Amino acid sequence: MAEYKLLLEHADDPAYRTLAGYQAKGGYQALRKAVGMDRQAVIDEVKKSGLRGRGGAGFPTWIKWNGIEKEKTAPHYILCNADEGEPGTFKDKQIMETVPFLMVEGMTIAGWATQGDHGYVYIRAEFCDAAKAVRQAIDEAYAAGLLGKDILGTGWDFDLDIHLGAGSYECGEESALMSSLMGERGMPRLKFPHAPLPTVAGLWDRPTVINNVETYACAPFIVERGGDWYATLGASTKNSRGTKIFSVSGHLNRPGNYEIEFGTTLGELIDLAGGVKGGALKACVPGGSSVQILRGDGLRDAVIGYEEMWEAGSMVGSGGCMVLNEHTCIVSFIWRTAQFYAMESCGKCTPCREGTKWMLQIMERIVRGNGQPGDMDLLMEITKQIDGRSFCGLGDAAAWPVAAALKVFPEEFEYFIKHGRSMIDTPQARALAPRWAQTVGV
Ligand SMILES: Cc1cc2nc3c(=O)[nH]c(=O)nc-3n(C[C@H](O)[C@H](O)[C@H](O)COP(=O)(O)O)c2cc1C
Ligand code: SF4
Repeated sequence: MAEYKLLLEHADDPAYRTLAGYQAKGGYQALRKAVGMDRQAVIDEVKKSGLRGRGGAGFPTWIKWNGIEKEKTAPHYILCNADEGEPGTFKDKQIMETVPFLMVEGMTIAGWATQGDHGYVYIRAEFCDAAKAVRQAIDEAYAAGLLGKDILGTGWDFDLDIHLGAGSYECGEESALMSSLMGERGMPRLKFPHAPLPTVAGLWDRPTVINNVETYACAPFIVERGGDWYATLGASTKNSRGTKIFSVSGHLNRPGNYEIEFGTTLGELIDLAGGVKGGALKACVPGGSSVQILRGDGLRDAVIGYEEMWEAGSMVGSGGCMVLNEHTCIVSFIWRTAQFYAMESCGKCTPCREGTKWMLQIMERIVRGNGQPGDMDLLMEITKQIDGRSFCGLGDAAAWPVAAALKVFPEEFEYFIKHGRSMIDTPQARALAPRWAQTVGV
């Protein structure tokens, strides 16, 4: 299957970043259609579309929108998660920089469908260009009466603001994001079933919808062309519909963002990115650093779909597809991943706070050449103590890559521990020179 450009069709056209250019290509037709529809009918279209959240978990979007109270008793909030902290993922950045109105219109449609009063786009502050593009889009939408008071003469008011985050990975976790937005420390809150869902008590304890940038950007297409049309995309998969943007990076000839229809294979995605460079395909982490690594053999045929990727041993996640060639040392790759999660752990709960540091210590001694015979078992045991026992998903995200690498590439860990050095010792491997070698001095 080839690239399927739906969200990114006009990404290369600078005019599309202006309201005039966006409207010239059909922009805001969806919002005009939506405000002529019953609010529930909009949600029903999203249900028909089969859209699932693009932030990582793949949760059905319509369930969130439908969960907001229908008889309004309090202000309703629409949040956009534009934190995009998952290593390997950079597609939200491109959406905001090149097609910002899709996200703004999508949030406005979500606001209409759920009787929203106020929306916030939570953008990591390093994304300066993205924040500027979204700022300009919001300003233009206000000036044209597409945000603010009495939108399109409906009598409905909806405001949209940007909030810049300070760059903590944890602030992408939805409850931590809300804490951060409310001026508290960016730490997670208790979740359902121990606490109400955000749709009941989210931001300021009010009904809140929170979705990813890409999720909102799909909404205009769903409303304008219909949920049934959208659901034809990806129809070959079990339960994944539409397109998905993958940030494809690593040892590739043309790394970048590629939008594909669900049902495409990993091999086809790799080919879109120009194929593997510098050696044969060794492994792939298909959905961002937190998902399970897949071994090269057989992965080309793995179908991209939420269920299909799970059956293949990994996840679609946020779509950060990292491709590794044969000269990559998996032990050092995972050491670097473990370092990231240990650094980003917020420290609130013991399994993650202690477990991520402990895993890092062990990984560190292995890559320094001081690994001990029981280290693989110990690492696996720690992953089990973190996974499912942490307060939020960051703990799981830290445990999965380590556990998967131990299972999928045990020989590399065994070799490193036994010989005190990587089994990948080719000139190419040394030339690729992972920074880890300098950092740990091996
Ligand atoms: C540690 C952690 C970090 C996360 N970071 C992000 C992020 O940067 N962007 C994002 O959209 N979702 C992120 N998520 C998922 C969000 O909690 C949430 O599920 C998502 O924003 C919901 O939107 P969606 O349904 O449209 O996917 C993260 C989750 C965890 C546990
Ligand atoms: S799992 Fe625990 S320590 Fe880790 S980020 Fe979440 S709350 Fe913080």
